[in-house]
Amino acid sequence: MQVEDKVLKEKVILVHQRAERFESEHSLEELRLLAESAGADVAGRVYTSRRVPHPATYIGKGKVAELSRQVDAHGADLVIVDHPISPVQERNLERAVGCRVLDRTGLILDIFAQRAVTREGKLQVELAQLRYLSTRLVRGWTHLERQKGGIGLRGPGETQLEADRRLIGQRIKHLKRRLEKVSSQRDIRRKSRRKVPIPTVCLVGYTNAGKSSLFNRLTGANVVAEDQLFATLDPTMRRLELPDRGSVVLSDTVGFIRDLPHTLVQAFHSTLEEVSQADLLLHVVDAGDEEHDVYIEQVNAVLDELGAGDIPAITVFNKIDLTGGESRCEQNEEGRPESIWLSAHSGDGVGLLLDAIQRQIGRLNRVYAFYIPVTAANVRAFLFRHANVLDEDCDQDGAWVVRAEISDSELGRLLSFHRFDECSVVVDQQAPVQLAG
Ligand code: GTP
Repeated sequence: MQVEDKVLKEKVILVHQRAERFESEHSLEELRLLAESAGADVAGRVYTSRRVPHPATYIGKGKVAELSRQVDAHGADLVIVDHPISPVQERNLERAVGCRVLDRTGLILDIFAQRAVTREGKLQVELAQLRYLSTRLVRGWTHLERQKGGIGLRGPGETQLEADRRLIGQRIKHLKRRLEKVSSQRDIRRKSRRKVPIPTVCLVGYTNAGKSSLFNRLTGANVVAEDQLFATLDPTMRRLELPDRGSVVLSDTVGFIRDLPHTLVQAFHSTLEEVSQADLLLHVVDAGDEEHDVYIEQVNAVLDELGAGDIPAITVFNKIDLTGGESRCEQNEEGRPESIWLSAHSGDGVGLLLDAIQRQIGRLNRVYAFYIPVTAANVRAFLFRHANVLDEDCDQDGAWVVRAEISDSELGRLLSFHRFDECSVVVDQQAPVQLAG
């Protein structure tokens, strides 16, 4: 792609400012990965440590000079700062070092813009970009407003800003309307899926943990797997056939990231919404990453925020081919599979995961055979509405024999609403059990 070719040539200097205790070496590494994801060639770095950012240039005078020297020495086209900086700081820095300056939010937006594939993804990214831009324009505007002073001082710059702001506002409104439409279509799709209760399994995890690779391994689909952050922007769904359980819907999601700018969290809300509807989460972790415990906590915190904290989850420690560990499954005291060690690349341990998904989903839904006499047609109707009917037959007495997959809660509802005197329910492949009304 043309844009990517252009971006690929961009030489970049990274600026890290340690505000206090929080940034570790890891966050520096993450900025490098992010920059490379955007197609940048990282030519140099400037490290600084300040408690309070410099109001005019974010970094101090001496560091601006050092940055300037590096930009000249490497012929850099772009400086990327590892924190949100104000538009004024951005402009001042650009003037001082003589090249474009971007902050972390701008960088992530750029990556999103390059990666968005589906209609919804593209709309979401554009909306996020406009919101980002509009706050920068508004700030510029307030700054000018203060200088306004009185009649006769309204300059063309201000008029332009007003016009820009109005245009952006209109575009944002338009995008929001389109997004609402797209997300309501997605809702309809989700509801129709709910009617036929096929369980949904969602892959979640930190960016670059290997979700897409595992998704491909499990479904044979060809989702981009790259050694770049954010290779996936839109949830991708595929049907996954489980040997003894029929099918589930497997959904791949965009990776979580440390300190995701708030505007982006909002913009990607519908992508994340998918997660809160899942029946089972596969939390994919890069087992080779030293900080994986921190990431697990961060992902769990976000899942809680999304209202997905109570959804059953299996932690999948991926990339054991790199760590040299054995594939294995760890269960809790009740025998529920909790963690699986595997390699999406070699396929080692993937069978254990399939088995664990099967067992976990099996806890949600079970297959029953319902023997329903003609007098209890309402029971049959209930099953067609609230269960996944697998097949139907008639026995010699004319009664319906319906095999259906149904969740414990729906079965409970069925039992509480309908008299079962004449019906019998059989757990598939087990001896018939007569249920009392
Ligand atoms: P995002 O889309 O950024 O959220 O990433 P992701 O979690 O979907 O990761 P992806 O599948 O794109 O993999 C990231 C990198 O890890 C790629 O370079 C993969 O080839 C690599 N990778 C994934 N699984 C394995 C594995 O089992 N072993 C090894 N050695 N590398 C793996």
